Amino acid sequence: MSHIYPIFDTILRKEDKEELLKQHGKVIWMVGLSGSGKSTLARAAENTLHQQGKMTMLLDGDNLRVGVNNNLGFSDEDRTENIRRAAEVAKLFANNGIVTICSLISPTEKIRQMAKSIIGDSYFEVYIDCPLDVCEQRDVKGLYAKARRGEIKEFTGISSPFEEPQQPDLRLQTSALSIEACHQLLVDNILAITSIK
Ligand code: ADX
Repeated sequence: MSHIYPIFDTILRKEDKEELLKQHGKVIWMVGLSGSGKSTLARAAENTLHQQGKMTMLLDGDNLRVGVNNNLGFSDEDRTENIRRAAEVAKLFANNGIVTICSLISPTEKIRQMAKSIIGDSYFEVYIDCPLDVCEQRDVKGLYAKARRGEIKEFTGISSPFEEPQQPDLRLQTSALSIEACHQLLVDNILAITSIK
């Protein structure tokens, strides 16, 4: 960190950006197993919010792993770095007043605590709660079958741990509620925390 001179004091403040966009910048951190419905709900919520005049950004684990995180795998160490980078990027967007929706498995309490400590007050955790057997039955990408056959190592829920969030800000049970009901709850919560009173 030597010979680095950041100039944060001359940069416009978060409040200046929020005033311009007429919304609060927040990070909606969506946690859950592969196949739980994170990305589907994230995309649907982003569309609805966009139609309602909100400036949004979607950061999806799979997409980030093609670009900024393309040198990372699924070891504990790589997942930690994956989440660290996603959280740092999300923080940049939220500090510019943007409603930033992040969809990453974020499998452990430790990893989520790290994301929360990077992002700070803007962090809003949503647990997309769906039992492993339901995710496995859905198996939209065919990854659970591969993981069971041993063709994918360190697969979350099968050969790599997933710790349920204990105190998420919002829990959406995608196996118990309809996708429309989950979508509505998600959008309502996001509007409540991002609208300027
Ligand atoms: S995280 O654990 O580091 O948060 P992330 O959300 O970025 O994971 O990526 C998860 C996506 O990568 C899954 O939706 C799935 O499509 C794909 N994937 C490939 N290999 C694995 C694996 N071993 N464990 C979990 N997901 C995997």
